[in-house]
Amino acid sequence: MTILDGKKTSADIKAEIAEKVKELKAQGKKTPHLAAVIVGNDGASKTYVGAKVKACELVGFNSTLVELPEETTEAELLAKIEELNNNDAIDGYIVQLPLPKHIDEHKVLLAVDATKDVDGFHPTNVGRMALELPTFLPATPYGVMELLERYKVPTSGKNVVVIGRSHIVGRPMSILMSQKRAAGDATVTVAHSRTANLKELTLKADIIVVALGVAEFLTGDMVKDGVTIIDVGITRLDDSSKKSGFRLAGDVHFESVAPKASFITPVPGGVGPMTIAMLLKNTLLAGENRA
Ligand code: GUN
Repeated sequence: MTILDGKKTSADIKAEIAEKVKELKAQGKKTPHLAAVIVGNDGASKTYVGAKVKACELVGFNSTLVELPEETTEAELLAKIEELNNNDAIDGYIVQLPLPKHIDEHKVLLAVDATKDVDGFHPTNVGRMALELPTFLPATPYGVMELLERYKVPTSGKNVVVIGRSHIVGRPMSILMSQKRAAGDATVTVAHSRTANLKELTLKADIIVVALGVAEFLTGDMVKDGVTIIDVGITRLDDSSKKSGFRLAGDVHFESVAPKASFITPVPGGVGPMTIAMLLKNTLLAGENRA
């Protein structure tokens, strides 16, 4: 069984990006600049955005954190987005999701300049991804593709079951793995909350991508020997034996699934760190495109 080590792989990618930034600086070219917008006080979102900004510093990017209060109106947020679209110093930016309920997420994502949309969430970029045109791939699926590629996990002709159909993970994951590309050429089934007989599907799967958000959902009895497991879930579970009072759990019951797997991502230290590395890669690309 091989652990797909996202922590190490993301460190490798960040080192590659840092090298590139050094070259840009030596040539007197512009340093890539990422901005992140966060609205409200969601604890998990603050942690994620903080990690993204810190990663920028690590590779030598410039970064701007825009923190807006929970009461920010949709019009105020749209005005901030217009400002970022017009700011030549900013190469790419993200609007952290979820947004407060009084703000229309689709309206906001549509307002982001597609050439600065390093999350790959703008409908133009989702369309370009589906059509296999150059674009920003959404960071989490992009990170999974990169892990599969770097560990040379066989995907061509394999049966893949993606559990979850979210716009951020499940849907793009299913599109990418079915395409003629590295870590692609697979036969993909998208399973979701209305799927009948999920276990019948997962028992036949060579690769399972779990992006459901239900802690330890996939158990050993649901998978066949030799399966490859990609666990996108991350949930805090109460654990009084921990100083923090919680532990992090994935969507996969690691203890029962890992002994049957040929490749598996751990939680934490699997897909999570890859997401940030790929956001940086997209920002580097945004900078190159603007130059
Ligand atoms: N919320 C959860 N994942 C993401 C992500 O990849 N990007 C943004 N902007 N928000 C998120």
